[in-house]
Amino acid sequence: MLADGGGVSEDGAAEDGAAGDAAARVALVRMLQDAHAGELAAAYAYRAHWRSLRRPAEREEVRRIEASEWHHRAEVRSILDGLGARPRLRHELVMGVTGRVLGSLCFVTGWFGPMYAAGRLEGMNVSQYLTAREAAVRLGLPYVDRLDAMRVEEDRHERWFGDRVRGHPLLPLARRVLGWSPPEPDAATEPPPVVVTPPPRAGVGA
Ligand SMILES: [Fe+2]
Ligand SMILES: [Fe+2]
Repeated sequence: MLADGGGVSEDGAAEDGAAGDAAARVALVRMLQDAHAGELAAAYAYRAHWRSLRRPAEREEVRRIEASEWHHRAEVRSILDGLGARPRLRHELVMGVTGRVLGSLCFVTGWFGPMYAAGRLEGMNVSQYLTAREAAVRLGLPYVDRLDAMRVEEDRHERWFGDRVRGHPLLPLARRVLGWSPPEPDAATEPPPVVVTPPPRAGVGA
């Protein structure tokens, strides 16, 4: 709304702010719905991934990462509940199947592919929770710390997978085709503890 003299009136600014907040809230809910389904896909994929690995230390860590993805899924569901929103069932089903398919590929594609794909996925998750956190800050929602904790944990996952593939002879080719590079090692970053909760039984809409 233009005020006299071509400026924006206070009422107009308030309306724009309210509309912006409403749009940000809708975007945040959509982002969290995507994250909720994405965590399901990740958890299923990691469940197969750790079972496909031979080195005990790698199996154990990917198993821990699977547990943290189930924990994230519960966290995101709790935040969605707080926002009065629900997961999108069709998206949940698609991502559930996607996770199981990706997981089954871990047994046939060799060691490097799943490790690289996981690192790339985790990098996307870091951005997703960072954007969600920024939206929560803007809207004054009480979820900032929880979203930040998940961002930090996804960053730890990305670094762990990145450390696995760093120096691998297939990395330059994968980087050229898929664009993701392992983050630089950050010795000053003390990884936060991983929250390990028993994974729920297979199913969607947990
Ligand atoms: Fe996660
Ligand atoms: Fe993760």
